Amino acid sequence: MGTVITFANQKGGVGKTTTVVNLGASIAETGRTVLLVDFDSQGNLSSSVGADRSRNGIYQVISGDVSAEEAIQETPQPDMSIIIGGSDLTGASVELVNEDRREYYLREALAPVVDRFDYIFIDSPPSLGLLTLNALVAANHVVIPLQCEYFALEGLTQLLQNIKRVQTSFNKELELFGILFTMYDKRTRLADDVVQEVIGYFGKRVFRTIIPRNIRLAEAPSHGIPVNLYDPACVGTRSYQKLSEEVLNRVKTTTAR
Ligand SMILES: Nc1ncnc2c1ncn2[C@@H]1O[C@H](COP(=O)(O)OP(=O)(O)OP(=O)(O)O)[C@@H](O)[C@H]1O
Ligand SMILES: [Mg+2]
Repeated sequence: MGTVITFANQKGGVGKTTTVVNLGASIAETGRTVLLVDFDSQGNLSSSVGADRSRNGIYQVISGDVSAEEAIQETPQPDMSIIIGGSDLTGASVELVNEDRREYYLREALAPVVDRFDYIFIDSPPSLGLLTLNALVAANHVVIPLQCEYFALEGLTQLLQNIKRVQTSFNKELELFGILFTMYDKRTRLADDVVQEVIGYFGKRVFRTIIPRNIRLAEAPSHGIPVNLYDPACVGTRSYQKLSEEVLNRVKTTTAR
């Protein structure tokens, strides 16, 4: 089965989507196949790869209108595909509330295609609602991106409690795969303090690669391509490539256990 990783943090703007697209592209560059799933009504991930937003997406898949297979689109990055998300997902969380097994919709929707890819990356919205819950139930790993700033840790306890709840009630396989620092600014001492505090608490779960603030990472989405295709030599590209090596090694050691 492919490795399914959900990127979650209910705090907005911490780099979830940026990480999904660029880590996905870096892994696809190594020849592994990657499927991105945009499970956010903002649809930022879909725009980041210039996807056709008029086509069927994950909402139609969980509604049973189309198969996951039919919703897959190619992206500008070879070996990386996407199932798009968008505003119709806002309705999904309301519609699912009264359904039995409402936590399992995404997992079941993706089940027919998980074996086709080496990696499946799920982007989730900035909330701890039913969509994020579905994204956690569908995954075997979760990555928490954290912005290097004072309020970064706010809400982390609540997120970890949600992950525990998913582990005990819905999905025993779910593992905290790693904590990723994003938008690091070496000019601020505060960033270092935050990083040290989190390492003190989570130890090896924190990725050694820290993603710096890099304007190219913010520019690439408006061109509908991942940063490695936009500027192959920039710091943003190199950091996500470094992170991809770390992720691939970590997957190896976790499966070897
Ligand atoms: N390392 C970085 N350097 C510079 N800009 C960045 C970096 N990472 C992300 N950004 C920019 O910061 C903004 C927020 O990032 P992103 O959309 O990835 O966060 P998010 O957690 O997905 O947000 P949301 O919670 O709204 O979905 C975007 O404009 C993005 O381009
Ligand atoms: Mg996002």
